[in-house]
Amino acid sequence: MFSMRVLWSRLPSVTGALTVRPPSSLARIAQRVSATTFHSRDTSIDYPDAGGSPEYKSMYQRSIDDPDTFWGLAAKKHLLWERPYDITSSVFLEEGFISWFHGGKLNASVNCVDKHIKLRANATALIWEKDEPGQEERITYHMLLSKVCRMANTLRRAGVRKYDVVTLYMPTMPEAVYAMLACARLGATHSVVFAGFSADGLAARINSSNSTHVITVDEGVRAGKILPMKKTVDEAVAKCPSIKQVLVCKRTGNPVPMGPIDLDMNLEMKNSRPYSTAEVMSSEDLLFLLYTSGSTGAPKGIAHSTAGYLLYASMTHKYVFDYKEGDVFAFFGDLGWITGHSYGVYGPLMNGGTSVLFESTPAYPDYGRFWETVERLKINQLYTSPTAIRLLLQQGDEWVNKYDLSSLKTLGSVGEAINPEAYNWYRDVVGKGRCSIVDTWWQTETGGIMISPLAHDKDTKAGAATRPFFGVIPSILDPNGNELEGNDVEGVLAIKTAGPGMARTIYRQHERFLETYLKPFPGYFYTGDGAKRDKDGHIWITGRVDDVLNVSGHRIGTAELEAEINSHPLVAESAVVGRHDDIKGQSVFAYVTLMQGTKHNDPAAEADIVTDLKKRISAKIGGFARPDNVICNNDLPKTNSGKIMRRILRKVAAGEYTEIGDISTLNNPDCVANLIEKRKKMD
Ligand code: WT7
Repeated sequence: MFSMRVLWSRLPSVTGALTVRPPSSLARIAQRVSATTFHSRDTSIDYPDAGGSPEYKSMYQRSIDDPDTFWGLAAKKHLLWERPYDITSSVFLEEGFISWFHGGKLNASVNCVDKHIKLRANATALIWEKDEPGQEERITYHMLLSKVCRMANTLRRAGVRKYDVVTLYMPTMPEAVYAMLACARLGATHSVVFAGFSADGLAARINSSNSTHVITVDEGVRAGKILPMKKTVDEAVAKCPSIKQVLVCKRTGNPVPMGPIDLDMNLEMKNSRPYSTAEVMSSEDLLFLLYTSGSTGAPKGIAHSTAGYLLYASMTHKYVFDYKEGDVFAFFGDLGWITGHSYGVYGPLMNGGTSVLFESTPAYPDYGRFWETVERLKINQLYTSPTAIRLLLQQGDEWVNKYDLSSLKTLGSVGEAINPEAYNWYRDVVGKGRCSIVDTWWQTETGGIMISPLAHDKDTKAGAATRPFFGVIPSILDPNGNELEGNDVEGVLAIKTAGPGMARTIYRQHERFLETYLKPFPGYFYTGDGAKRDKDGHIWITGRVDDVLNVSGHRIGTAELEAEINSHPLVAESAVVGRHDDIKGQSVFAYVTLMQGTKHNDPAAEADIVTDLKKRISAKIGGFARPDNVICNNDLPKTNSGKIMRRILRKVAAGEYTEIGDISTLNNPDCVANLIEKRKKMD
């Protein structure tokens, strides 16, 4: 059982404490933990306003010069340990050996909930902002503990065991948080699948993770529309032999068919004891998987650890947003993405904060929804995507000005680059020029924010992610992997360190983890993004350099889309590129060659196939990945070696016909004129 005290007194004495002897050449990584600076009960928030200040600079320097001391002190202060750790970090980046706080024992749900019971049992942990405005529900830390325990007991009875993978297919609602924390309490690894994925998308993720249980709801509700989530789960689970049980929470309360493996979660929870023992987990045990797309292959189950991830989520949440005790923090996005995990759940709860779970959309019931919610819930920190900001900017300032936004202090942006126009509007119209704007760059793989100003930082520019968070060494490399030193350089972005929050592996595919992230530039973690460091040393993200699209902040691998398109019986070949979109950032643009014998240039036949392809993507992956444009042509531009020239396809999609460049080296230069002609008809 977990004690509420942290037993640092158990820490072995300095000499002879290391029972694990690291390889001699890397002895420096074995860092002793000093027992003297730890305050076991101190979960208060006392960070300085460090942004851009000398304080930031000196703290950053310390975090780079001596990461073990920096993170070690933080880990003692912010994590509640059942057993202290022995070795702060062991990182051998080239073989993907990343370990933080080895020897330590803890439980994530205890850290997010039980830890706060003495100090803030009646403080609000969650505010559920339901789809219909004005019906919010508040959950205190005490209620959260009771719900998490009841759900953990239910899951235990349903056969969930330590290290099982449990898939969550749920809307943004408190039950999703209970489910994440209940899994953590049992030592099970949760894998949340965004509710926008189709049955096939869900089944692929269940099968890849060999999940034993699914937690879902009867139906979801979004923008006034009902989403048949249990039905989607039924369709998916029919293709998933590993699933033993499906647990169904109530959202709409409408009756849904219940089969032999289905359990009514609410009923089971009501009959469960509100106390549940927490499994004692090791620092490096996996807390969760989250699937994300890459440039090749099937989606990857990015795996995050327990201690390091929790620490990184909580530190970034506090520092980047300047989160203070009592503040109301709102991530206006879905729990099914990494941002929902780190800043909707784990960061705020680790810090004893109040997190708003936003179930709706920026446009429901009207374009004032965000701002009305800010006023009603007195939100202090708001975190959302450039797509949402651009959408609301286009509706005019009246929507914003109708509401009292004086509670706002920090405004965050995430998921894609924010263009200066949107940035300035966010700062001036929403923030009235008195809020900090933080443009935060990071990825599913990094667990938390990597490059961003800290709140109060004055040394910022519209559109720049600005500077690294503590412990992060961002490197800009040329195509040969040489580091570009100094300012005014541009290249690909790689990270020279593996801090506590970095992903540890791709679930059951460690070799792929190495191939994707660690082998492209040995000694670095490769991000897939381009970046530049300007003359002032500020970092700007220039976009993906691989074949990954970013549509409304949703990451979509072109290879995955092409595989679906190619599986259509009439399609011979396809190439998917991104096209600039004023609101979504990018939209999906597909080029398709039909099977021989299928009539190209027959508009009616082509239109049918195009409709079919769009439907297919929605059904097989999800509506968010649907192509906005499809061009059918009897050929695609190729090099002599048969490689499709995507560069040309991107230019045609963008309508930049004069910038296509030399096409004489193509195998089939004539096809470009046809593509341009078809593209022009779309305007
Ligand atoms: C990709 C990661 C970060 C959590 C949500 C998305 C792009 C993310 C920014 C930013 C420019 C950004 C990158 C990155 N991205 N934030 N502030 N400026 N680009 O997580 O789905 O793992 O996607 O989103 O291209 O690689 P994700």
